[in-house]
This record gives sequence, structure tokens and C-alpha cells, in this order.
Amino acid sequence: MEAQELRDAYINFFKARGHVQIRSASLIPENDPTVLFTTAGMHPLVPYLLGEKHPAGTRLCDYQKCVRTGDIDEVGDASHLTFFEMLGNWSLGDYFKKESISYSFDLLQTVLHIDKEHLAVTAFAGDENAPRDTETAELWKSHGLRDDQIFFYGKKDNWWGPAGQTGPCGPDTEIFYDDGRPKCSPDCGPSCHCGKYTEIWNNVFMQYFKDKDGKFSPLKQKNVDTGMGLERALRIVNKAETVYETPLFAGIIGKLEELSGKKYADDKKSFRIISDHLRAATFLLADGVVPARMGGGYILRRLIRRASRYMSRLGIEGVHMQEIAEVVVHEYSQAYPELEEHKDTIYQQITAEEEKFHSTLNKGLRRFSEMVAQQGDRKNLDGEAVFHLYDTFGFPIELTKELAEEKGYEVDVDDFNDRFKKHQDESRMDTNQTFKGGLVDHSEETTKLHTATHLLDAALRAIVDPNIFQKGSNITAERLRFDFNLDRKVTPEEIKKIEKWINDAIKADLPVVCEEMSYEDAKKKGAIGVFSNKYGERVKVYSIGNISCEICGGPHVTHTGELQGFKILKEQSAAAGIRRIKAVVGNFD
Ligand code: ALA
Repeated sequence: MEAQELRDAYINFFKARGHVQIRSASLIPENDPTVLFTTAGMHPLVPYLLGEKHPAGTRLCDYQKCVRTGDIDEVGDASHLTFFEMLGNWSLGDYFKKESISYSFDLLQTVLHIDKEHLAVTAFAGDENAPRDTETAELWKSHGLRDDQIFFYGKKDNWWGPAGQTGPCGPDTEIFYDDGRPKCSPDCGPSCHCGKYTEIWNNVFMQYFKDKDGKFSPLKQKNVDTGMGLERALRIVNKAETVYETPLFAGIIGKLEELSGKKYADDKKSFRIISDHLRAATFLLADGVVPARMGGGYILRRLIRRASRYMSRLGIEGVHMQEIAEVVVHEYSQAYPELEEHKDTIYQQITAEEEKFHSTLNKGLRRFSEMVAQQGDRKNLDGEAVFHLYDTFGFPIELTKELAEEKGYEVDVDDFNDRFKKHQDESRMDTNQTFKGGLVDHSEETTKLHTATHLLDAALRAIVDPNIFQKGSNITAERLRFDFNLDRKVTPEEIKKIEKWINDAIKADLPVVCEEMSYEDAKKKGAIGVFSNKYGERVKVYSIGNISCEICGGPHVTHTGELQGFKILKEQSAAAGIRRIKAVVGNFD
């Protein structure tokens, strides 16, 4: 089955049942500052799920482009994608569980032709917020599913939403394709990741609102919000091994084979990463996202850069991303006409970013040569140096290893992997934070300013008053803002001294080291903490040389030299007894 056939069949099925088709909304959410991108079909419909009247009525359906970025580094395996399409149908206070399950069952049978024996479904097990959903289980049984095809799970698996920090949510019933292989263990079920079960559809019975304090209250109306992953559904219908073997990727992969002279089977991981990332990048550019140092633009930049690295791994030389973007525009414009409409911008931006990255790569290569020159007789490149190349210049370990081996050096891969894993855990934490808490941005710039904040905190105590403590901090891509207790102005001479103290620390290129320990140990070590009542049992402690030691979630640079320089822009009063400093980092020579 072709992708467009499936989109059309889904829409026609629901149109025949009184639904009105709505257009896919932009990937940039209009009304939700707490997330970077549209992550689900329901996202643009939040006001209507909350009770506002939708001009198209109470039964809607669509296909919606989505981007989820929590697992970028996992892309390359059989199933992770950053960009995907969600087929969805909604009841806005119209039908509820009975019709929803009945529609889904019928579509699975008559459109996707999935044998009932291959279905497995889940229902909410119940907790203090909502009761056990036996009604859903009974409805599935009325369609002929047996008890052993129905699984009950708790909130972690069987509750969906809200999409941002607050909003509509509820218990769901998820529909899985069971490939028929034996269970991997007695506990094996749809929540197991062994590969037996693939989720194809999620029907959310959205009747609660979660507020910013985490409390749930009933919504004015009972809604249904469903989402079916187009890629996965197509994989199952076409009996393809992975989503990358569906028609959705055939054109892109074909183009890459042509450009590289290699076959997909020779290096599936590289083909998958490039295909996923450039498909996502093309769609993001069409919606007006531009490569940048923060926010959504930073995600776009990461996607393009990672794709570029894997293009060189396939041996593709020169600037070729536009050719991949052309395939995406050609193949997806029928469903998403905005691609065709904005193709000139897409091509211009993707090429500019690709060229820019090639030049960063060259700088990284120079840095690598310097590192090697400094090695002297040591034949082992330590993990820290290798990680620096990864973190600052985007050098993957494979590239560094290859370069090192050419020169007769070994690389401490284990040490690199430890650092990499830590970094990955941190960025995952950060992404989750963005999802939950709004604007947390991890561009290089804000990371530097974060470290600069620790230096400023230490400098104020060293130079102005040992009793100074942080009272507030706010970082944007442009500047840091730091509030602290002091009942007088900081004098211009003191400002000069603080700047010098910090610039000396930057020139000394002190290491910034992160350790995990218990809160008690952190206190013993003399670490200062600002919001001590919020900390869990284990905390991260960042030390800068021996001049600063703070409990902090990070992220930070690895060496103070990366800050280049520090400058105070302004010193002013913030409130009674509280002063405020705004400062920047960069090369001010
Ligand atoms: N909003 C639901 C999901 O994304 C349907 O799974």
C-alpha cells in the first residue's frame, strides 16, 4: 500500500462516519509555549478539547505532521523517528468509548485487513484519578477479543497527555499488532519491548484536565482523541521489516544509494539517520524554523549536522542535502502543499547550513591535529579530549578513532562512552524538562552562560562579601542575569575586579567536573546549593578547578576556556537588599 492510499483510506473511512477532515497544522505550535514542536494530532485541537466550539463541528479527522525530539540519538535503529505522521479522529463532546472502539475495530478489519488474532489491546488499570476501565475491556470483548488479548496497565502505560505542561488528558486504550511469535517471558505483553508487539493506534478518552499543580479535574465534555502512526501502520500493512522499508522512505533511500554508490543493506544505520533527519529538517524548514543556537532552531541544526556526518560516513562528498530535500518535496507535497510552496527557502537554508557545518568540521580537524601534537610520546588519546571533539565540533567517536588510528594512536573508547552516556542522560533530562517546564534551552551559548554564572557567584563572594548568595538566576541565549543579597551598590572598582577574577579563571582554562553524590556528601564537600528543599537524594555537583563547587543540574562547558571572556553589562537594584548583575561571555579582545 502506498502512503497516500493509506492517508486517503483513513480519511474516507471517517468522513463516511460523519467526520470532517481538517488540515495538518504547522509543526510550530501556535498556542503552547511549553513545547518546541507539534508532537501529536491533538495538539492544535487543545482549545476545542477544552470546550471551545470548533467551526467544523464535533467529529473531526486528519493527518498531522509531528516532531518528537526526545531520542534523536536513538534514531538509526529499526523504529525511532523524529518526524512522523499521525492519523487521527476526534469526538469533541460527541461519541465516546463505544463508538470509538467500534470505529477503530472496523477500520483495522476492513481497511488494514489485520486478522483479529493479531490484535492485542490495553486498558487503564485504575488509580486515585480514574477508575479501572472495565468498560473498555468489555467493549473489546464484544468485538470478539479474548481475555488473553486484553491487558490492564497503570498510568505509565495507559494514560495520555497532557501534551504540554497542563491540558486535557485521560486514560486510553492502545491497540497493538502482535506478530505471533512466542512471548519472551511469562510477563511479556504490549508494554514489553521485545518486538512481539507494535503499537499502531492510541484512543484516548480525554475527560480530565491536569493543572500546573498536577491536579486532575473533570472536563466540561467527554472527548475522544486518537492517533495512529502512519509509518508503523504502513509497515504492518506492507509486512515491511521496519518503517524504513515502507514506500515513505523508498525515494529518499534510493537517492542516497545513487549519491553514495552504496546499498541500504551495506550500512542501514547511516541510511536511516540521514533519511529521518533530512525528512524532518525539510518539514521544519517549510514551517519557518531556521537553524539557530537555541530552541527549535537548535534542534534543526543538530538534525542537519548529524545527517551530514553520516553522509560523509557513506562517502558522499560535497554539498548534496538539497537533492534529498528535493525528493521529500516531490513525494510529500500532495499531502503537504506547504513544502512545494516554500521549496526555495528550504533549499537555500539547508545548503547554507550544510556548508557551514563543513567548515566547523574543518576547524575540528585542525583542533585534532593540535591535540595530537600536544600528545608527545603518549599513544593514548583520553576520553576527555575525544569527548571535547564530539561536543564542540560534532565529531563522532568513529571519526576520531579513524583519524587517531591513521596516526598510530589509540582512543580510550570506554572513557568516551562513559562521558557520552552521561551527556545523553543529561540531555534527555533536559528535553524532558523542556517538555514539562517550558523554556530550557541548551545551546552552546546558554551552556557557557551557565558556567559563567557559577564563576560570578564565586567571584562575588571572593571579592565583595563572603556572605553573598544567589537569590535568582535567569539565562537567555544573549546574557545571564544573576540576583544576590547585598544592601549596597557594587562599586565600579569591584566590578572591574570581578571581571578580572573571572577572566583570569577563563584564561587558566580550568576543568569543569561533574560528580554525582548524595546530598549529604555534597554538603560535606562544601558544595553550595540554592534550592535545597527541591533536591532528591542524589545530586550532581559541578566543580570548577578549586574555585567553585555547586549543586546544579547543569549543563556546563568542560573547560572555562570555552567562555573566551566575561563582561558585566549592568549592575542595578532588583529589590530591597537584592542586587542584580547582567553579564555576557565571548571574545571581547
Ligand atoms: N494523543 C494521542 C497520542 O499521541 C492519541 O498517542
